[in-house]
Amino acid sequence: MQIRKRPRRTALLAMVSAAATAATGLVFASTADAATTLGASAAEKGRYFGAAIAAGRLGDSTYTRLLTTEFTSVTPENEMKWDATEPQQGRFSFTNGDRILNQGLSNGSKVRGHALLWHAQQPGWAQSLSGSALRNAAINHVTQVAGHYKGKIYAWDVVNEAFADGGSGGRRDSNLQRTGNDWIEAAFRAARAADPAAKLCYNDYNTDGINAKSTGIYTMVRDFKARGVPIDCVGFQSHLGTGIDSSYQANLQRFADLGVDVQITELDVQQGGNQANIYATVTRACLAVARCTGITVWGIRDSDSWRDDNPLLFDGGGNKKAAYTSVLNALNAGGTTTPPSSPPVTTSPPPSGGGACAATVSLNSWNGGYVATVRVNAGSAPVNGWTVAVALPSGSAVTSTWNATATGSPGTVSFRNVTYNGQIPAGGHTEFGFQGTGAGPTATPACTVT
Ligand code: G3I
Repeated sequence: MQIRKRPRRTALLAMVSAAATAATGLVFASTADAATTLGASAAEKGRYFGAAIAAGRLGDSTYTRLLTTEFTSVTPENEMKWDATEPQQGRFSFTNGDRILNQGLSNGSKVRGHALLWHAQQPGWAQSLSGSALRNAAINHVTQVAGHYKGKIYAWDVVNEAFADGGSGGRRDSNLQRTGNDWIEAAFRAARAADPAAKLCYNDYNTDGINAKSTGIYTMVRDFKARGVPIDCVGFQSHLGTGIDSSYQANLQRFADLGVDVQITELDVQQGGNQANIYATVTRACLAVARCTGITVWGIRDSDSWRDDNPLLFDGGGNKKAAYTSVLNALNAGGTTTPPSSPPVTTSPPPSGGGACAATVSLNSWNGGYVATVRVNAGSAPVNGWTVAVALPSGSAVTSTWNATATGSPGTVSFRNVTYNGQIPAGGHTEFGFQGTGAGPTATPACTVT
């Protein structure tokens, strides 16, 4: 992100669409037993309330007191980024990331992983790579870091800030983007393979309403869902100025309607006339969207912030600000929608047929590796189960698979449906994928109904 700590205020304000002012009618909880901390109140609504934290501040007793009493999720502000976790290629450093992880887990908090791939805060060695060398290094980074934290991270920002600002709605130019437009889906697939339990998020800023940038991301997420690219959530950073777009909630809702969770991931708001109201508006928007699973503020006290305009909920002395009270009241007052605790499972009676199937494969290859996406097509009769045999060239091996189980690598690998995608209606299709080393398959796979 272009904005640096202590930025010029005009730069920050330019990020923010001030198309509408915040709603002003706060509703205050009046019950004597209203929750008295952000985390407890959010939990009553089935959500977390988190903060970005820094390992270097964990020795500050005021900081840790606020952290452990108020927050139920932590995000490392810098400690799990590429430059921090892989300072030299292939040499990983998890000391500070682990400190954040352990702080969160020991407090019973969720841990949001931030961020596996980003054009910023890359180590120097990665900045000097390009093409397949960079692609391989990036995918290896995802695999190693997500693998190190396997089973412990609630949600990963797999890719951060890959879309351009302005009206194009397209991708940002970066060394990662220049490895090929499929770098984002390759990253998500590698992350799923490395940590199947973590929710996988795309995270960005200036997406605080329905605008060209958020629509570009929306189109990508819709495409990923249609093609079976594993994505579970979208993070809305929400670095806000003096206004908030009137379509803030509608924007969250349209993403949720695609079948992904949404999360407010880096909330901070310029101090000024509207700070408390804007915080409340964001809180109410999350409560109103069933798939908004939580809110994270980007720091605890104003003095901890990357910004110079006192954008957080506690002042430099650790005292609660009006913005704090506004958020707590909004949490206590509102929210009738509950996020699902796990993705909805739909069941349908098995189709009666057992007809033929056919498979096609598409490849995204780089020097030394590939990601294969296989489409399984049912014929004119429904299919109850399937296997697809894929012949691999000599030297090729499958390293991870999604939406199928694989047996027999190397040579001919047999991929069998998993429980949720064995049944394909007549004329329908499903997709699975795998990642491999060496050259990808070139022959048409053989599909057999089972
Ligand atoms: O740790 C070094 C220190 O050793 C050195 O002496 C000092 C000299 O400048 O730099 C320190 O590193 C700084 C680091 O924060 C830790 O404090 C970096 O310079 C500084 O650039 C870095 O800033 C971080 C920024 O991301 C980098 O782009 C901010 O703390 C962090 O809040 C900010 O977070 C980003 C999110 O990851 C993505 N979304 C936007 C958000 C705000 O920019």
